[in-house]
Amino acid sequence: MKGIILAGGLGTRLYPLTKVTNKHLLPVFNKPMIYYPIQTLVRAGIRDILLVAGGNSAGDFLRLLGNGREFGLNHINYTYQEGEGGIAQALSLAEHFADGGKVAVILGDNIIEDDITVHIERFKKQKKGARLLLKEVPDPQRFGVAELKGRKVVRIVEKPARPKSPYAVIGLYMYDAEVFNIIRPLRPSRRGELEITEVNNAYLKKGLLEYDILKGFWTDAGTFESLFRANSLTAKRHVKQRAL
Ligand code: DAU
Repeated sequence: MKGIILAGGLGTRLYPLTKVTNKHLLPVFNKPMIYYPIQTLVRAGIRDILLVAGGNSAGDFLRLLGNGREFGLNHINYTYQEGEGGIAQALSLAEHFADGGKVAVILGDNIIEDDITVHIERFKKQKKGARLLLKEVPDPQRFGVAELKGRKVVRIVEKPARPKSPYAVIGLYMYDAEVFNIIRPLRPSRRGELEITEVNNAYLKKGLLEYDILKGFWTDAGTFESLFRANSLTAKRHVKQRAL
C-alpha cells in the first residue's frame, strides 16, 4: 500500500513559530515533527510515500528528507498544495500517485505511539471502503468526533461544541481509490476548507466505513498546547525506552 503525508496548510495557530518556517519542520523532542508520520508509515511496511507540502519553506522538506533513503524508503515523492484549502484538497493532489490503489493517509502533525501495522493489515483484507482510527480524548471538541451506537459509527461531526462521544477521529485514514471521486464534488465548508470529515461521512452513508480504537498515545501538534504535549509525551517515551 502507498502512503500519503499531508503537510500543507500555513500553521497559523502556531504563529510566530511558523512565521519563517513550516510547522512540520518544528522540533518535537529530538526530531523534526515530519519524522514522526514518516516513521509511523515505514514501521507499518509502507515504503512508497508522497509528501504534500505547502506554506512556508516548502523547499526545506527536500533539504531535510532528500530521497528518503535515510528512512528506508524506496522512493519519496513531493508535491505542493497552494493555499490551505483543507485536508481533502491536499489529498486530492495524490490521485495520480495512488494510481487506483488503496492508500494510507497521515497528517503531518499527528504523533502516534503505536505500531499501526495491525490496522494497515486489516484494511488490506477489507474489500473496499475506508478505515479510521479512533482515540478517546479529554477534549473531543477540538477534533472530528465519531458518534457510536454499539459497534457502529452513526455520524462524524467536525469540532462539535457539544461532543456526543469522547472518540476523536485521528489523522490516519485508510481509503480505497473511490476517495478521489468522493472529494471531487465537495464544496468548501464555513472555514473555507474541503473537509476530511465530509469524506468520511460519505463512506459512512454507503455503509463502507470501518474503524479500530488506537491503544497507545496519540496527539496532534498544531497548537501551542498540543505541540507542548507532543514534546512531553515523546520525551517521556524516550526516557522510558532508555531505562529498559
Ligand atoms: O488531528 C486530527 C484532526 O485533524 C481530525 O480529528 C479532524 O477531523 C481534522 O479536520 C483535522 O483537524 P484540524 O483542524 O486540527 O487540522 P489542521 O488544520 O490543524 O491540519 C492538520 C494537518 O493537515 C496539517 O498539519 C497539515 C494537513 N493539512 C491541513 C490543511 C488545512 C494540509 O495538508 N492542507 C491543508 O489545507
